[in-house]
Amino acid sequence: MTFLKGRRILLGVTGSIAAYKSAFLTRELVKAGAEVRVIMTRGAMDFITPLTLATLSKNPVLSELIEDRETGVWTNHVDLALWADAMIIAPVSAHSLGKMVTGQSDNLLLLTFLSAKCPVFFAPSMDLDMFKHGSTRENIEKMQSFGHILIPVGKGELASGLEGEGRMAEPEEIVQQIHDYFEARLPLRGKKALVTAGPTYERIDPVRFIGNFSSGKMGYAIAHELAERGAEVTLVSGPTSLKVEHQRIRTIHVESAQDMLKACQQEFSVAEWVIMSAAVADYRPVEQSEQKIKKTDAQPVVHLALNPDILKWMGEHKSPAQTLVGFALETNNALENARKKLKAKNLDLIVLNTLQDDQSGFGYDTNKVTLITADNKTLPLELKTKTEVARDLIDYLQQSAQ
Ligand code: PMT
Repeated sequence: MTFLKGRRILLGVTGSIAAYKSAFLTRELVKAGAEVRVIMTRGAMDFITPLTLATLSKNPVLSELIEDRETGVWTNHVDLALWADAMIIAPVSAHSLGKMVTGQSDNLLLLTFLSAKCPVFFAPSMDLDMFKHGSTRENIEKMQSFGHILIPVGKGELASGLEGEGRMAEPEEIVQQIHDYFEARLPLRGKKALVTAGPTYERIDPVRFIGNFSSGKMGYAIAHELAERGAEVTLVSGPTSLKVEHQRIRTIHVESAQDMLKACQQEFSVAEWVIMSAAVADYRPVEQSEQKIKKTDAQPVVHLALNPDILKWMGEHKSPAQTLVGFALETNNALENARKKLKAKNLDLIVLNTLQDDQSGFGYDTNKVTLITADNKTLPLELKTKTEVARDLIDYLQQSAQ
């Protein structure tokens, strides 16, 4: 239920026996990480108490437009509607359904419903014959014609003891449908991305290596942001203590630059976006000792061989449909060096960070980067968290792809 994490959900509860299920629905939404605010009609309060829903949602339940007549304190239904990423009206009784269709607005829930600009889901709940009635059918169709999303009723035993259609969908089904609705609309759904992160370790012997200080934070933030927006991400990660759990991220763990090259070459051709934030070691020891090298008085010498340049290989093999993004970590002549790398490696974009900026580069949670494009536009960004840098970078790629 990754989509629901951090989303703002307005739950409207109207007067129907199924209102008891709104307690479970609230719990499911909160469990999925959503921020939930509940609006109840007076009719709903005959079936379930505001205290129950306030406790489960961890927010006061709203029901009155005017909270205090003496002081004139009121609930701003427009702000409330604008606050929400989605509104769910569950259950919606035949009575409230009729009012929604005809635009009546004599309670806070209806006023908020009319003000909502976010997707509105409605889950009807009523007895068999009420549900079958022509006016109910027509009202449901009208709601759909306004662009609202029906959560279909279930079949089974109804509160009246009759069997048939009219039960409100189960809370788990409602949450799943809302999740699926948003997931299907994620902007990068179906896009395949390859991201590298972290350092590479180049072994000298079984206990020693040449490496660098990369923590993987930058690359993991990029992979996570891409996946959150719907992309299918392959993350090729050098050794790091970071862990990522996301249903759209597949992680391939590697150790050395040669391992990373192999993994990247396997994944490259299917990736539409490739973002190389790993700090790949440029050199590796020519020889790797099978045994731990013993300490002696003689000064040891480690002969180094040049590692393959993974990004350069990609630049030579990329198709016009692929977007290739590299990173440049510089200490001096930053802009000039980054531009040279962009050209030499045939990149579409390079993300420059320098070790001269405070709180920037290896290990920090923050980074200060400049985006440089192939047509030499430069976009310096403020110091921000690596999550925000990832967002800005993906925003930029999305805009450029339009
Ligand atoms: O991991 P963190 O602690 O969060 O730190 C993030 C970071 C500083 C590692 C990251 O922001 C960053 O700058 N990554 C690139 C570091 C680097 O190796 O830069 P470079 O200028 O040496 O390499 C240029 C580009 O070529 C990079 O995209 C690199 O992945 C790639 N490369 C380099 C050498 C090589 N043999 N193969 C490559 O593909």
